[in-house]
Amino acid sequence: MKAVVIKAFGDPDGLEVVDVPAPVPAPGQVRLATEAIGVGGVDAVIRRGTLAAYGFREGHLLGSEVAGSVTAVGEGVDASWIGRRVWAFTGLSGGYAEQAVASVEDILALPDGLTGADAVALGGSGVVAHFALDRARFRPGETVLVRGAAGSIGITTVQLAARDGAGVVAVTTSSAERGARLRALGATHVLDRSGEGGPDVPAAFDVVIDVVGGPQLPLFLDKLDSNGRYVAVGVVGGQPPADFGMRLMDGFRRSLSFATFSSDTVPGPDRQAVRSSQFADAARGDLRTVVHEVLPLAQAVLAHRKMDAGEVFGRVVLVP
Ligand SMILES: NC(=O)c1ccc[n+]([C@@H]2O[C@H](COP(=O)([O-])OP(=O)(O)OC[C@H]3O[C@@H](n4cnc5c(N)ncnc54)[C@H](OP(=O)(O)O)[C@@H]3O)[C@@H](O)[C@H]2O)c1
Repeated sequence: MKAVVIKAFGDPDGLEVVDVPAPVPAPGQVRLATEAIGVGGVDAVIRRGTLAAYGFREGHLLGSEVAGSVTAVGEGVDASWIGRRVWAFTGLSGGYAEQAVASVEDILALPDGLTGADAVALGGSGVVAHFALDRARFRPGETVLVRGAAGSIGITTVQLAARDGAGVVAVTTSSAERGARLRALGATHVLDRSGEGGPDVPAAFDVVIDVVGGPQLPLFLDKLDSNGRYVAVGVVGGQPPADFGMRLMDGFRRSLSFATFSSDTVPGPDRQAVRSSQFADAARGDLRTVVHEVLPLAQAVLAHRKMDAGEVFGRVVLVP
């Protein structure tokens, strides 16, 4: 089968289409013929080598979420899955391929009305958005800032915060056009990437959900209100300065909190329950999924170039 691997860490040209044997489902796994493959910010972070310290090596087959039809099951898995269309989390590898395997605990049947592309735009990121707001102890009426809101995690976070009664949903984004699209999804205030946004933007927020990290993270810690909670969910802008915690100590008397959040720490059944509910919302049109573009799997390099160029709003989806 065709698959896309990282030949060399760095720019998108380091990705290569290769022929590899189709995976065989191990006990407890299913195999899918993929119909939609999500291209996530995490794939670009792995491709650049940012996560090399976490064990990612060159030769890595990228991709963590797909949708498709189950074609085979491993030992111990109910054979009635065969032929069903499902969303699947493949781990942090194995998705950019014509066939992929996933643990049966990490698949979810697609409801009628939800396309495979919709499912991979929402399946992983929606859960992060939900539990990041939960980790931030977000309550109706509070002010929320979503940093890096134009990606699939941010787009869902904006919608959930607005739907759940946030008093303010501010976002950072890189252009007025992207800001207008975020307003249509529920954002009330638009800031640039440095956090500047004009006189009507609140000076401080109860909750900051940050997909970006990077050198400017301390500027956004300064935007926490007293008792404010900051939840870092991503590092698309790289790692923050090593001494960023001093900003919190400097604000000691304002009772500030900083947390990282990874959906890996949420029990699988809880993730699946939220995902199932969000898929139903999306199928009814109560939650919007944003697919920026659908490209052939063989054009994974182009998909990553578009991500690196900052063109993508929402999620790029590859099809085999
Ligand atoms: N916590 C978890 O459980 C979990 C799970 C999966 C993934 N992740 C992490 O989440 C991140 C990917 O999320 P995503 O797919 O939603 O993000 P994304 O689409 O890659 O990026 C979100 C937005 O951030 C802005 N941005 C990009 N680079 C930036 C920079 N250098 N400085 C400031 N803004 C920048 C861009 O919007 P503008 O151009 O409009 O500013 C971009 O659209 C990765 O770090 C991944 O590791 C976390």
